[in-house]
Amino acid sequence: MNSQDKVQKLIDLREKARKGGGKKRIEVQHSKGKYTARERIQILLDEGSFEEYDMFVTHRTHDFGMEAQHYLGDGVITGHGTIDGRVVYLYAQDFTVFGGSLSETHAAKICKIMDQAMKVGAPVIGINDSGGARIQEGVRSLAGYAEIFERNILASGVIPQISAVFGPCAGGAVYSPALTDFILMSDKTSYMFVTGPRVTKTVTGETISTEALGGAQMHASQSGLAHLLAKDEEEGLLMIRKLLCYMPQNNLEDPHVTECNDPIDRLDDALNEVIPDNSNEPYDIKDVIFAIVDNQEFFEIHRQYAMNIVVGFAKFNGIPVGMVANQPNHMAGVLDIEASRKAARFVRFCDCFNIPIVTLVDVPGFLPGSAQEHGGIILHGAKLMFAYGEATVPKVTITLRKSYGGAHDVMSSKQLRGDINYAWPTAEIAVMGPKGAIEILEGKALKSIEEREEAQRFIEEKEQEYKEKFANPYEAASFGYIDDVIEPRNTRFRIVRALRTLASKKEMNPPRKHTNIPL
Ligand code: HXC
Repeated sequence: MNSQDKVQKLIDLREKARKGGGKKRIEVQHSKGKYTARERIQILLDEGSFEEYDMFVTHRTHDFGMEAQHYLGDGVITGHGTIDGRVVYLYAQDFTVFGGSLSETHAAKICKIMDQAMKVGAPVIGINDSGGARIQEGVRSLAGYAEIFERNILASGVIPQISAVFGPCAGGAVYSPALTDFILMSDKTSYMFVTGPRVTKTVTGETISTEALGGAQMHASQSGLAHLLAKDEEEGLLMIRKLLCYMPQNNLEDPHVTECNDPIDRLDDALNEVIPDNSNEPYDIKDVIFAIVDNQEFFEIHRQYAMNIVVGFAKFNGIPVGMVANQPNHMAGVLDIEASRKAARFVRFCDCFNIPIVTLVDVPGFLPGSAQEHGGIILHGAKLMFAYGEATVPKVTITLRKSYGGAHDVMSSKQLRGDINYAWPTAEIAVMGPKGAIEILEGKALKSIEEREEAQRFIEEKEQEYKEKFANPYEAASFGYIDDVIEPRNTRFRIVRALRTLASKKEMNPPRKHTNIPL
């Protein structure tokens, strides 16, 4: 073979590898409304930036007729490329080859790029579309999964890890995405479960569809496993590109600051009137978020899950931040189990990757009731408190309206190392709301009043007295718990200045092996 033939052989082999499991299987993939692994990579990465590794790897199995079936790449495409010019490592499982199932060599390819991403300090993106463990390989496949899991764990908090699920992801295969920072699922074409509908029926007698058991909608709104729900794969891949622009390459870097063309001193008069006169009336916290962030751009995480708290990424003068905000429009913005877990996880992500946290507070307290108590609200609420309290990134807190009881302490209060805590003049910072407080404080006096109207008048008077004393920001400000009471329309500027001031903040936690967050 002369050198020209040798080059031709390389070209032919590459061509063969790019065909994956062949034309027919690619057609089947397309007929399900799905892209192939290579098409996905093309949408995800900057044009022409993909460098593929291990294209010539094949499996080493000799059982079940596998010795006669070899596909170059062995069902997963791995390598690196760039997104907006920044390096990312990635793998994309190829369902057209053995259903994207995970063999020993398939796992080794994934591990190789994860190891290199750790050395380089670059994010890893995994695109999952797989029938799970390669059945013909048995225990070697299980070992391969565990190799990946261990790397997911060691990479946690060191490099951002993002999972897209664009097809089946079942059995033990679910745990690699579950160990990563963000999971994105495509609507109607993806599912995740530990055991599928058939086994569920056998074991529990329950009849349930794949979609209802582990579809994207369910995970985005009920289990909270999916942080992002995309209407299709293309939207999902573009969402991942966007998501990455808010985070640094690794835990030793700061997030990437971009140029900002939105004036930092832009006043928004509407904010002075956004809080309704009646403090029990709802309003949409997202109106406030959109009004204060750069160019009204807010990248929401967990949009469909625990909607009583809103979390997501935004920028202030080009500085990426994590936003956490109670949502009065949903369950009055109360903190419950789901909301606490959702926000805690988000706060911890931001802290891992040096992303400052801006918190907007309007919280009536923790949700009462046996369902919450029996479900462990104490433990879950403690997660959020723990997350805020251990976070060393800059923390700016604005109290818009209610900030009551334990929820006040939890929501990035001064004593949980809130760096800069401002309040609007509409803030109500107290142990509890006026109604509950008066019922407890004046219970005996109330019992002695027989006349209904007189009792009502008495309650109103006492509530008014309580409101004047506590349901305002000035009591907290008089103790220095609130650094300043600010005009709502000036909020954007005050946050920008706070973040600028805190940019050089250094805070360390005591040395230890790791914390013991209440799980
Ligand atoms: C080997 C597999 C495979 C697997 C699919 N294929 N799953 N090959 N190992 N796990 C192959 C099929 O034989 C077929 O090959 C091709 O992939 C496409 O599969 P289809 O069944 O035709 O596709 P579809 O109808 O879309 O169904 C997809 C599916 C189904 C629902 C995922 O394939 C399925 O149920 N697969 C088995 C899932 C499973 O039980 N996996 C093991 C889970 S246990 P041809 O040649 O016909 O194209 C597990 C433990 C991990 O994962 C533990 C880690 C800790």
